[in-house]
Amino acid sequence: MNLKEILNLADKLVYAQTDQHLNDLQEAILRGTLEHKAYKQIAKEFNCSESSVRNMGSELWRVISEKVGENISKKNFRTAMERLQNANSLNLDQDIAANGSLNTCGDKTPPLDTPHWPLSHEEEVSLSEPKPVYYDLSQMPDLGVFYNRTSELNKLKTWILQHQSRLVKLTGMSGVGKTALTVKLIEEIKDQFEYVMWYSLDPLTSVSEFKSYWKTAFFSPTSSRHLPYQSFTKSLQAHRCLVVFDDLQNLFESGKLAGKYKVNYQEYRAFFKKIERLNSQSCFILIGWQVPKELNQNKHNHFLPNYSLQLTGLDFETSCKILQDYGLTESKQWKNLICSCGGSPLWLKIIANLIHELGESVIELLIDDTQPLPEDLQDIVQQQCDRISKSEKAVLSLLSQTDKPISLSTLKENSSLATSDLINALQSLSRRGFLDKDDQWYSLLPVLNRYYRHR
Ligand SMILES: Nc1ncnc2c1ncn2[C@@H]1O[C@H](COP(=O)(O)OP(=O)(O)O)[C@@H](O)[C@H]1O
Ligand SMILES: [Mg+2]
Repeated sequence: MNLKEILNLADKLVYAQTDQHLNDLQEAILRGTLEHKAYKQIAKEFNCSESSVRNMGSELWRVISEKVGENISKKNFRTAMERLQNANSLNLDQDIAANGSLNTCGDKTPPLDTPHWPLSHEEEVSLSEPKPVYYDLSQMPDLGVFYNRTSELNKLKTWILQHQSRLVKLTGMSGVGKTALTVKLIEEIKDQFEYVMWYSLDPLTSVSEFKSYWKTAFFSPTSSRHLPYQSFTKSLQAHRCLVVFDDLQNLFESGKLAGKYKVNYQEYRAFFKKIERLNSQSCFILIGWQVPKELNQNKHNHFLPNYSLQLTGLDFETSCKILQDYGLTESKQWKNLICSCGGSPLWLKIIANLIHELGESVIELLIDDTQPLPEDLQDIVQQQCDRISKSEKAVLSLLSQTDKPISLSTLKENSSLATSDLINALQSLSRRGFLDKDDQWYSLLPVLNRYYRHR
C-alpha cells in the first residue's frame, strides 16, 4: 500500500469510530509514523509541542485500536493497515453507505489485550525509536564546502519524503552541483530509510553487476546485515530503500540526441521502467547530464509519482562565497564574472583559481567575451559539447552568432535542418541544460555561447 492508501484507510477507520475525519495534526502524525519519524520531529515540522503530538498520537492509536479490535501503535501501524487491507476484514465503505454514523463497533472500551491507554511516556519513546538503517555509501563523494541550495533541498525532500516519489531525476550541466546537492540531501534524509546506497555509473556497469553489488553489500555473510537474499525488486518492496545512481550520462551514446542508450546497456531502460512502476516505498535518485527520457515527469499521478529537477547555477550571493573562498576581494566586475559562468560552482572555482594564480587584473580579460575561454574551462565545456549530435551542433552554431535570444521562426529561417530535426535538436539541447528558454525565445548559456563562437 502506498502512503495515500494507508491514510485513506486510517481516515475511514477514524471516521467510522468518531464521526470525524482526520484533522491536520492527526494526518501529520500518521504520515510521520509511516516515514519512521520520531514524535519530536513530527512536532517540529508541524510547529507544535512534542507533548501535543504525543497526546494526540495516543488518542489516535486508541481510536484505531478500538475500531479494528486489536492493539495498534506507532510500531505496528503500517503492517496492521496492510493486513487489514489484504484481509478486507472491515467493510468500511458499506458501513459508510448503510449507517452514516459508522460507529458499528458499539463497544468503545479498549480491547482486552490492550494493556492500558494512553501509553506511558517510556512506551511511547520506545515506539518512536527509528528502525535500524543499513548504508553502503562507499561510492558517495565527500561533501566538502557546501553553500545554500535550500530551496532545491526542500523541493527534493518534499518529493521524496512527503510525496513518496519512487524516481527523482536530477539533471544539469557538468559542474553545476548535482552530486554535491545529492550528497547533502542524503546526509539529511538517510535515516528515514532502511537501506541507503550510492552507486556510480562511472565506470559503467551492467544491471546484473549493480544487482550483485546490492546483494553483496546488504545480504552477504560479510555485510552488516546477514539476511536471506530476496530478489532486488522484493527487497525494494519489503524495505524502504533509497538508491542514488550517479553519472547516468555514461549510459548514453555520444553524437546522438540526448537519452539514446548505448547498445550494450539497453537493459537499463526496462530496469528503470520497472522501478517506476513497482509498488514500493523505495526511491531512486537518478543524476546525470542526461537521464532516461522515457521516464516522464509525472507529478500528478499518485501511482507513478516521479519528478525532475533541472539544476541551474548558484545565485549571486552564493557564487560570491565561492570566489571569496579563494581569498579574492569583491569588486564591481564580479557580477559579470558570475553571470558569464551562469553561477556554475565548478566553472567559478576554475575562474577563481586562475584569478588567484594570476592576480585580479586578469578579470578584465575573463569577462571580455571577444576572447576565447581560458583553457581549463574550455576543456570542461568541450567534454560535454563533444557528446552532442550533428543537428544539435548546427543549432548551437546558430545560437552562438548572437548574444540575444532567438525565436523558433528565426532559427527555422536560418537553419538548413528539417523542421522536425530542428525541434528534436532543441528538445535535446534543453534536456542537456544547454539552453536558456524564455517563452518562445532561446539563447545559450554565456560560457557555451563564447565557447562556440571561438571554436
Ligand atoms: N552549493 C555548493 N556550494 C559550494 N560548492 C559547491 C556547491 N555545489 C557544488 N559545489 C562544488 O562544485 C564542484 C562541482 O560540483 P558537482 O556536484 O561535482 O557537480 P556535478 O555533479 O553537477 O558535475 C564541486 O567541487 C563541488 O564541491
Ligand atoms: Mg556529478
